[in-house]
Amino acid sequence: MIEVKNLYKSFDEREVLKDISIVFEAGKTNLIIGRSGSGKTVLLKNLVGLMRPTSGQILYDGRDLTKMRATEVKELRQEVGMIFQGSALFDSMTVFENVNFPLMMFSKMSKTEQTKRTQFCLERVNLGDSGHLYPSEISGGMMKRSAIARAISLNPKYLFCDEPNSGLDPQTSLVIDELISDITKEYNITTVINTHDMNSVMGIGERISFIKEGVLGWQGTNKDVMSSTNEDFNDFVFASDLFKKVKAVEESEN
Ligand SMILES: Nc1ncnc2c1ncn2[C@@H]1O[C@H](COP(=O)(O)OP(=O)(O)OP(=O)(O)O)[C@@H](O)[C@H]1O
Ligand SMILES: [Mg+2]
Repeated sequence: MIEVKNLYKSFDEREVLKDISIVFEAGKTNLIIGRSGSGKTVLLKNLVGLMRPTSGQILYDGRDLTKMRATEVKELRQEVGMIFQGSALFDSMTVFENVNFPLMMFSKMSKTEQTKRTQFCLERVNLGDSGHLYPSEISGGMMKRSAIARAISLNPKYLFCDEPNSGLDPQTSLVIDELISDITKEYNITTVINTHDMNSVMGIGERISFIKEGVLGWQGTNKDVMSSTNEDFNDFVFASDLFKKVKAVEESEN
């Protein structure tokens, strides 16, 4: 579980995150949604320690990231898996080498153990036979799956995904969403996902936090979405073409 308490982040005079308090639960897909520029990536970067909040607390199962020394942050990082906007694989390495990389860098495993773990992770994302390929030789969906395999290689307790579906077709997005959701349950990971994909919201939105201009505007589950009375949230949700069309069809039938 990660608890964010009264988090603020400013750049110079500009407040980008304002008094954000959210609890991200273990074993759940916790979604952060909001328009482009609302502050999702900045929030995620603060959560993983790539940016320092202006004020507030970030408690990793009680351990406050904002009070940790560099060495403690480094230790915590080994419990964290990340998938950033774009899959960010190393182009000069094969898929296998990409997934093996964190093990080589951060684990004390022997070469044989590393190979076993890497192959296990590749198989988990259905890329057991693709380890020898380079990123340039695989599809966008395969790249995302490689990035997931790499993110879970160190058996993380916490997993962060920034727009895991960007650039993917709806069907492939669904596969990625299901994979992230399954892994979250299987290993009881505290997973935080940034998205503006309404399919993901409805599909895997167990805990949804909606951010508007740096402020937490609405929280709920995918079951609460259709009955929301929050105007800002509804504007965001129904701005999606799909929902507009569904609404229009429903209205024409009445
Ligand atoms: N390093 C930085 N310095 C100054 N301003 C920044 C910095 N990083 C982000 N911002 C600003 O913070 C705001 C929120 O940006 P952020 O990237 O978090 O948006 P987002 O919700 O992730 O958008 P998108 O959906 O397009 O990815 C933007 O106005 C952005 O310009
Ligand atoms: Mg972003």
